[in-house]
Amino acid sequence: TGKRLKDVQSRVMVGTEFSSGFTNMDSTFFNTATPEFNIVTAENCMKWSDLEPSQNNFTWTEGDRLVNWAKANNYTVHGHTFVWYNQTPNWVQNLNANAMEAAMNNHIDKVMAHYKGKIPIWDVANECFEDNGTYRNSFWYRVMGKSYIEKAFIRARAADPSVKLIYNDYNLEYTGPKSNAAYEMLKDFKSRGIPVDGIGFQMHLDIQYAIDYNDFAKNMQRFADLGLEIYITEMDVRVSSNTNSAELDKQASYYKNIIEKCMAQPAVKAIQFWGFTDKYSWVPGTFQGRDNALLFDKNYNPKSAYYAVQAALATT
Ligand code: G3I
Repeated sequence: TGKRLKDVQSRVMVGTEFSSGFTNMDSTFFNTATPEFNIVTAENCMKWSDLEPSQNNFTWTEGDRLVNWAKANNYTVHGHTFVWYNQTPNWVQNLNANAMEAAMNNHIDKVMAHYKGKIPIWDVANECFEDNGTYRNSFWYRVMGKSYIEKAFIRARAADPSVKLIYNDYNLEYTGPKSNAAYEMLKDFKSRGIPVDGIGFQMHLDIQYAIDYNDFAKNMQRFADLGLEIYITEMDVRVSSNTNSAELDKQASYYKNIIEKCMAQPAVKAIQFWGFTDKYSWVPGTFQGRDNALLFDKNYNPKSAYYAVQAALATT
């Protein structure tokens, strides 16, 4: 047994996402997750298409459920996300530049006002770069140019100065074109006083691809040197759908090595997984033949990965 993940140490928060409709989950879902973590992200229900499906008509029901659950269970809520190319309604995508900026401002204002005092961390901008390091060719970029990103951060700071503002992306773990581009953008933001508090490394991994853990540590350090906090926001490690113990041990080593590097980096504030049980995960629906990416199996039994995370969190 041993300590619950959130209790292994006090320096970083440890978390999961909950899917929409999580309140309908069976009791094993809650009995497993609730004692284990202390920070939660909404998998979908705080994205633009969920919160503001038509212009200036907000639907708070699911988000409020999550916030209320979090309060009752002493969890911090990590807000996800304001400006993203995905899961944003067509009505936003069809606006001209001025109207799009006004809609963005209104969305940020209304959401942050609604959750004032309840959500201390928001992913302000999500996935703004292509893997080759160019700005993602999204409707935001095509209509507003790259300034949509800094405008979102400026607006979010003005809307609620107490909230930590995060830039969140995937494939940022290692040095290379994409993380270089994010680094240069955030360095520029810092030099010009654009408000940004942290970088989110989503950390969607797969044991098919080798990781240079020292490069990951070096990469984290340069973001920390900009004065940024670091959040591991969506970690999971994919293996085969028909997996075996050798694969699951390899998966455990990925979790262990990444989290050990995080524990050696004082800027890391939270380690959050994109779910906790293989019963509910985005992976099999997106990557054919890949699955079983999380810490608990489909029957809610802890895997090798769970014990690896538990041990790694104990290192400093
Ligand atoms: O809500 C509709 C439902 O009405 C419809 O019947 C059903 C049929 O397809 O789709 C439902 O929407 C799905 C939604 O999840 C809610 O379940 C979308 O199709 C599906 O595409 C969407 O997937 C989400 C994905 O983001 C979208 O890009 C995943 O659940 C979610 O885990 C995933 O999360 C992202 C992070 O936000 C950002 N980083 C990457 C991460 C993994 O892709």
